[in-house]
Amino acid sequence: MQGKVAVVTGGAGGIGAAICRQFAEAGARVLFTWRSHEAAAQRLLEALPGSGHQARRLAVEDTAGLTAWAADVGRDAGRCDVLVNCAGITRFVPHADLDALDDALIDDIFRTNWRGAFAAVRAFRPLLAASGDGLVVNISSIAGVTGMGSNVAYCASKAALDSMTKSLARALAPEIRVLSVSPGLVDTDFVKGLDQKWRDEQALRTPLRRLARPDEIAAAVVSVATVLRYSNGCIIPVDGGRPLT
Ligand SMILES: NC(=O)c1ccc[n+]([C@@H]2O[C@H](COP(=O)([O-])OP(=O)(O)OC[C@H]3O[C@@H](n4cnc5c(N)ncnc54)[C@H](OP(=O)(O)O)[C@@H]3O)[C@@H](O)[C@H]2O)c1
Repeated sequence: MQGKVAVVTGGAGGIGAAICRQFAEAGARVLFTWRSHEAAAQRLLEALPGSGHQARRLAVEDTAGLTAWAADVGRDAGRCDVLVNCAGITRFVPHADLDALDDALIDDIFRTNWRGAFAAVRAFRPLLAASGDGLVVNISSIAGVTGMGSNVAYCASKAALDSMTKSLARALAPEIRVLSVSPGLVDTDFVKGLDQKWRDEQALRTPLRRLARPDEIAAAVVSVATVLRYSNGCIIPVDGGRPLT
């Protein structure tokens, strides 16, 4: 990844920070966004090996902000080779409790998990296409395939993200590859807020009998950029075999 530039939305989160670290360790310049955790973003920025990394406060529902960020990346870094859409939200709502999944939460989930990712691709497309080796990695979830997850809208948003991966892999080829990396449960703040009993059950039902570590998801993302170079438009599971049981 020497000489390359990777941009990561939600970079200060559990999985995002691991992705930023591994791209920086591989030699890339890393530009990432944070939304509410400034101290975590600053700590990450200072810990990244190499130079030229940047952290920027940005919410992915801010389409104009994404466009401005892409313009700044083009001016400051001169290129963008990889975009990782990692920003995402959820809240635990039992699937049978339809009333608890209100319109505001549904809209928030789709605005962040789908529209935010699409808007980021739209903003960075010119730079990615100019790279000669452009890559988009959408951080999806096995919830999109299994329909099991923190709530019905979250599962649907990740299924929609996987669908976007396929559509854009076709539409943006051959200049830009687009893939999903699809984790099972990962030990981050994202699941700490979820129902503990449900979380423990998910770990027990996973053939590997544990949650994933963020670095295991990051390794898959970096592999897509560095090793799996003929893969495109597919959903790469990193889930300990959870859908098997
Ligand atoms: N953990 C899991 O079990 C799991 C499983 C499958 C898929 N995933 C996916 O992995 C991704 C990362 O999750 P994680 O586990 O690392 O959780 P996390 O630590 O909560 O990270 C989520 C990140 O997304 C950012 N974010 C949320 N809404 C945003 C918005 N509107 N604009 C910009 N950034 C926003 C958060 O920023 P702030 O915290 O600063 O607001 C945070 O940095 C998500 O897309 C999630 O759906 C997670």
